[in-house]
Amino acid sequence: TGTWKLKKTVVLVGMMGAGKTAVGKALAAQLAVPFVDSDTEIEKAANMTIAEIFQRDGEAFFRDRETEVIDRLLDTCCGVLSTGGGAFLSERNRQLISKKGVSVWLNADLKLLWSRVKHKNTRPLLRTSNPFETLRVLYEDRVPIYAKADLKVEAKPEYSIETMAGHVRDAL
Ligand code: S3P
Repeated sequence: TGTWKLKKTVVLVGMMGAGKTAVGKALAAQLAVPFVDSDTEIEKAANMTIAEIFQRDGEAFFRDRETEVIDRLLDTCCGVLSTGGGAFLSERNRQLISKKGVSVWLNADLKLLWSRVKHKNTRPLLRTSNPFETLRVLYEDRVPIYAKADLKVEAKPEYSIETMAGHVRDAL
């Protein structure tokens, strides 16, 4: 405990279902700093959901908006920024993040990720004939890239959001 003065924005990265948004909110509250979520900011600016943006304008368009939003959000020092699961895959985004932020990979195993995303219909990338297999392939492909993050924190089914936020805080 005590007063925290962040020198950099804490940027949460990792797969869909890892808990970036929930843990980011809790962490920001614990540290008494602002919280922002890149997906939410993109949705607000477009006045559409992520799924609608993917459907109408395509993924490449979404990725451009994502980079713009991340760039803009990192300009306001210093709080907690939760990103969408694909944000850290772009070299450009990783550069922006490393300049002004400290990246934290929230990792979870595939089983936990699937248990959290399977009932939701908000993730356009999982609208396939075999969403579990799609998630598995995304996970396998992305792990080596998420591993470039500055810090890694492991999610477990038995950890509460507050516990996870505490683990991130301890890692900083
Ligand atoms: C994506 C993850 C989503 C959202 C979009 C694409 C991805 O964010 O940005 O559907 O590529 O993994 P969450 O990680 O918050 O689900």
